[in-house]
Amino acid sequence: MAKAKASFTCQACGAVHPRWTGRCDACGEWNSLLEEVSSSAPIGGRASGGTGRGRVLEMSNLADVNEPAPRRKTGIDEFDRVTGGGLVRGSAVLIGGDPGIGKSTLLLQVTARLAAGIKCAYITGEEAVDQVQMRARRLGVESSPVSVAAATNLADILATLDAPDGPDLVVIDSIQTMYIDALDSAPGTVAQVRATAQELIRLAKKRGFVLLLVGHVTKEGTIAGPRVLEHMVDTVLYFEGERGHQFRILRSVKNRFGATDEIGVFEMTDRGLSEVENPSALFLAGRQGQVPGSAVFAGMEGTRPVLVEIQALVASSPLATPRRAVVGWDSGRLAMVLAVLESRCGLSFSGGEVYLNVAGGLRIGEPAADFAVAAALTSSLTGVPLPADMVVFGEISLSGEVRSVGQADARMKEAAKLGFSSALMPTRRGKNKKSNGSLELREVSELQDMISFFERGGDSAVKAVSG
Ligand code: TYD
Ligand code: MG
Repeated sequence: MAKAKASFTCQACGAVHPRWTGRCDACGEWNSLLEEVSSSAPIGGRASGGTGRGRVLEMSNLADVNEPAPRRKTGIDEFDRVTGGGLVRGSAVLIGGDPGIGKSTLLLQVTARLAAGIKCAYITGEEAVDQVQMRARRLGVESSPVSVAAATNLADILATLDAPDGPDLVVIDSIQTMYIDALDSAPGTVAQVRATAQELIRLAKKRGFVLLLVGHVTKEGTIAGPRVLEHMVDTVLYFEGERGHQFRILRSVKNRFGATDEIGVFEMTDRGLSEVENPSALFLAGRQGQVPGSAVFAGMEGTRPVLVEIQALVASSPLATPRRAVVGWDSGRLAMVLAVLESRCGLSFSGGEVYLNVAGGLRIGEPAADFAVAAALTSSLTGVPLPADMVVFGEISLSGEVRSVGQADARMKEAAKLGFSSALMPTRRGKNKKSNGSLELREVSELQDMISFFERGGDSAVKAVSG
């Protein structure tokens, strides 16, 4: 008989500690340790029979190729792209995000679409059935044949789903509300989240249904972060966005069946989420044109080019330690670009406050944004605007070089498509110098070359716009 023993589990990262401490050694989170009683027998360990004698495994050859798993396409292109071309049978997908960002809305729209072809079940532990029905009416999908149930006891849910004529797709909204009776811990703790997810994933593999798990991301230690689930599921999607903006971005951070870093862009309207086919146009909408401190970055999100405005403001500061604030980019990377501009180009930001903002609520992770950030900063410092119809991209090295980045052609093509007429970019080497139609290329290899453009008062910039 397995003995139950108490241990302390970090609710943020899932690390187990033998005794309580104020701070988790593994992830550095404060106050995140919670006592959990766990049995030393593995959860769901029934398969081995518990006798200690295993059965002999049947080994396969690498060359035995199975047919690719059939995928369920939703017809919502932004969603299908992020999942790698549709949901795979028997796979588990985690959809994480802040509470209130729109996860339930997205999944209800997705299931409503899929319900036309396959059997879908939506199990909610957060709302009552009539609340889901009300939302469905608001989204205009109330007539699709989705089965809805409000439940939180996992035993009931497993009993319902474990049938030969069970559903082909199951949504669990959210995993933090589900619990197993046998475990002492409260719903939402690491032990419960892990155990309930494991049981559901096991059943999904057995019955071959697609499992969509909703997981709230919270900073508080009381609810287990979905991070503890990331290694258990096949695909991890994050639904993100700024509360004040209506744009929502679905991003794949792990995908066993497709590329990661793909994004899907949605807009939250009063009738649910609608797809944004041309995110660049959306992110650039409301741009003021030729103002100091603004640069349009030609970025890539997964396979898709996305143009976005980077805004910088350098202001004088009365403080001894001036503020540096960044929204939508990495603050460490900003510090690096500032240091390179100061030491390699002789600019001085040290007395000023520096603010950097990626317009539209997008978060950029690409190093290719370095050059656009440097251009926006220099433009704000000198008061000389960049031409309104110019895009910028390139990586900056510590020595002040502007380095080439991948997919330059896709970036330029998108810029030309959106009516831009020039690109400030790294010098391209090699033979593959396709001319880019309408785009005038200003290739630079040193950051200093860009600075001299601003020092000339941006004359050529103004000419490029008027002429
Ligand atoms: P919800 O899907 O409940 O978020 P989550 O499941 O991630 O917690 O979405 C909540 C927000 O979305 C809520 O503030 C209202 C808003 N919303 C709309 O703006 N339009 C709509 O059609 C719907 C259904 C919700
Ligand atoms: Mg919800």
